[in-house]
Amino acid sequence: MNVFITGSTGFLGGELLVDLSKRKEVDKIFCLVRAESNEKAMVRLKKVFDFHGDFLDVNKIIPIAGDLLKSDFAESLIKDKSLENVNLIVHSAADTSFSPIYDDIVEQINIQGLEKLLKWSQQLKHLETFTYVGTATICGMDIKNRIIKEEESPDENVQHLVKYTQTKMRGELMLPKYLPKEKILIVRPSIIMGDSRPWTPRSYVIMWALAAINLLRLVPINPDAQLDIIPVDYASKGIVALLFAKRNHLVYHISSGAASATTPFKATKAIEHYFPHRPEFNFVGRELIREVKLWARKKLNGHSILKNYREHLNYWDDIFDDATDLRILMGGLEPYLDFIELGQVFDNSKLLQDTNIGPPEPAHEYMKRSAHFLDKIDIFEAALAP
Ligand SMILES: NC(=O)c1ccc[n+]([C@@H]2O[C@H](COP(=O)([O-])OP(=O)(O)OC[C@H]3O[C@@H](n4cnc5c(N)ncnc54)[C@H](OP(=O)(O)O)[C@@H]3O)[C@@H](O)[C@H]2O)c1
Repeated sequence: MNVFITGSTGFLGGELLVDLSKRKEVDKIFCLVRAESNEKAMVRLKKVFDFHGDFLDVNKIIPIAGDLLKSDFAESLIKDKSLENVNLIVHSAADTSFSPIYDDIVEQINIQGLEKLLKWSQQLKHLETFTYVGTATICGMDIKNRIIKEEESPDENVQHLVKYTQTKMRGELMLPKYLPKEKILIVRPSIIMGDSRPWTPRSYVIMWALAAINLLRLVPINPDAQLDIIPVDYASKGIVALLFAKRNHLVYHISSGAASATTPFKATKAIEHYFPHRPEFNFVGRELIREVKLWARKKLNGHSILKNYREHLNYWDDIFDDATDLRILMGGLEPYLDFIELGQVFDNSKLLQDTNIGPPEPAHEYMKRSAHFLDKIDIFEAALAP
């Protein structure tokens, strides 16, 4: 079987590439990599394998330098004779930015880039499966505090918190316009955070938000909101298992489901013992975000209820040399708090029925082993480009 994968230099894609490279069913893996040449693309792929000391088989892993943004991207793939025998595409590349300043690029990569990839895949004679890595959060912000099934999305009428999820939803809707349903597999991971193995995750995406909450200690969020979080190794294992399983469905959540869901309270409990010198976590109402921003501007009204949290305010005075840092942090964190507040949990029974991977370890369990990474994260850099 010959695989073509996009996004393999990324958080999830890196794990997918390594896991796929270990499968005996796979002969070759063509990896689309942003680079000036195939040689430079190979250097980037080597880093993916070196990250956890995995073996890179140069006869199996073939770099394809390219960019979804390039206008001739589809044509360049069509011209490449080495790709004629691709049987399986795994499209993991995307722009996952939440900030509205990236909306244009998100559209260009997640929609126009996908369209180019589909145009190429459409004319592949031996294509068996186009795997679209979507996201469970395409369900939008109208569904709150309940378990969500795959069939409920995509729904073009739902409201989205960010352009990213809207483009991921539209991406799903585009697939059947190019390919017959039997050639499509949609996998929808929930929130991917960290790695359940005791080593550095490939990316601190999402984990930075927990690091920011860990620094702040006064958290404007519902402590009991249900949170569907999975580690990246489970996400990859689930997707790869589905690729080779006898599938009964077109769409699968790759998620914690209700049994392994966590909450802000449980997640913070799991990490707090690593940081004994910080104030205790205190959860407050969302309305306090505005007050926190006013405090950072030194414009807090004397009667504000934020004044009741004297220990935390003194602590912030100590840790933030410049209160602008706090504003940056809150600004970056806000879209994450919005997602957390939705209390969405994604039903994973289809994944569990069609594979033998079993449920994931809850985030409040595996994060106990990862708490020491939290202080290594540059949360301000992450907050500036959420
Ligand atoms: N992380 C999550 O919590 C989460 C949850 C649900 C679903 N997902 C989905 O999982 C997939 C992977 O996400 P991730 O977190 O692994 O993202 P990521 O770490 O940001 O990786 C994105 C990948 O896409 C590549 N890419 C971006 N723009 C490209 C372009 N113009 N041309 C070619 N490649 C391009 C990047 O290449 P460079 O290395 O060159 O930048 C990188 O390899 C995405 O489809 C995302 O929607 C993620």
